[in-house]
Amino acid sequence: MKNYVIIKKKIKSFNNAINVSGDKSISIRCVLLASQGIGSSKIYNLLESEDVINSLKSIKKLGINYKKISNYYLIKGLGPNGFNTNKKISLNAGNSGTFARLILGLLVNANNEIKIIGDKSLSIRDFSRVTEPLKKFGAIISSNKNNLPVKINGTNFLRPINYEEKLGSAQCKSAVILAAIKTPGVTKIKAKKSRDHTELLLKNLGFPIKVNRKKNFDFIEINGQNNFKGFEYTVPGDISSSAFFLVLTLLSKESKLKIKNVNVNKSRTGIIKILNMMNANILLKNKKIYKGEAVSDIYIKSKNNLKGIRCPKSLNSSAIDEFLLIFLVAAKSKGISSFKNLTELNKKESPRLDIAVSFLKRIGIKVIRNNDDIKIYGNSKLELSGKFIINNFKKDHRVFMMSCIAALTLGGKWKIYDKDSINSSFPKFLKLIKKLGAKIN
Ligand code: S3P
Repeated sequence: MKNYVIIKKKIKSFNNAINVSGDKSISIRCVLLASQGIGSSKIYNLLESEDVINSLKSIKKLGINYKKISNYYLIKGLGPNGFNTNKKISLNAGNSGTFARLILGLLVNANNEIKIIGDKSLSIRDFSRVTEPLKKFGAIISSNKNNLPVKINGTNFLRPINYEEKLGSAQCKSAVILAAIKTPGVTKIKAKKSRDHTELLLKNLGFPIKVNRKKNFDFIEINGQNNFKGFEYTVPGDISSSAFFLVLTLLSKESKLKIKNVNVNKSRTGIIKILNMMNANILLKNKKIYKGEAVSDIYIKSKNNLKGIRCPKSLNSSAIDEFLLIFLVAAKSKGISSFKNLTELNKKESPRLDIAVSFLKRIGIKVIRNNDDIKIYGNSKLELSGKFIINNFKKDHRVFMMSCIAALTLGGKWKIYDKDSINSSFPKFLKLIKKLGAKIN
């Protein structure tokens, strides 16, 4: 089977309403927390993508049963000591940094050595950022020079820690929170701002977690070794998946789109703030709070007077997975856009800053890079012709999807490799985009 798509035509104008799939971060957290609850949890609208399926398969290996019943997943949690770690096992996280890092937090009390492996991309990502704090709880951890495989052996003598999370990584913060829920005493975390789904979920389950929000940091206290029951949860739509459709609409001609029921937690809406600064007119309507998470319908229209911006670095973390798309909009805007301190972007499924710079140059855009800062010299008249081949050697789902959006809005004839990469976060991407009228072969 061919693993690429061919796009030869821009998308025609559309006016539509769509639902995107469930949020990936929340889906993985629901699976993990359901595994720790006492009794069954019902998770509706769980994202059915490889990252989440690998999470489900892994908890099953740890003795937690689940099944899909009509439109929900039933996960039979066995409480905080319920993982069966009586023998050495190996868990395959596939492409998922979130699962691989968060599960380590839940394994600090494992009775045996548990090995975490993953695909080629995950195997070269840094794990010391989570293994170092987790060792302080008392777990014994070894790795392949800070990469996978990581082996963790837990302890019955966990001790609470004081930890400062300086990277703005929700994965590190969450791994520590999950270890803390199993640890007697109070674990204290000072965390640079990042997505706070783990905190909100635990709070909603009645777990004793306190979050004191300050401008740049959150101060979190977790009083460990408390139980919670199985729960029901309906996962809202994923703003990171919605982002491809926001940019598709923004850069198309005379189009309108409503995306229904999307998670618009403040720690995730950097894309909306940044695009609105660039002159987009994105509106949130029908906003409600569901179990602590803000959920809303998002409305967007095409715009042809987009302008370059100086992006405040305080928005980096809340837009961290969307920068490839934001750069594309900057390329099609009038004037220069500048972005600073994007160090974390090169630590993702692929080195996204490096890839973005070569992508933008390939489509004829001037880019000046200074370490982890970049300036993009936008061209609001940008129209492409000729052939573009995107190899996507690192099989990064977001590189594939962003390239499709570029092809559908800028013109030219494109061959974009590694279609299968979408399975890690958004298997319905191509189907949904075709529904809007895109011609993709
Ligand atoms: C995620 C956190 C972010 C993000 C990733 C999902 C999460 O990673 O890039 O796609 O669910 O916690 P970092 O925590 O490494 O910034």
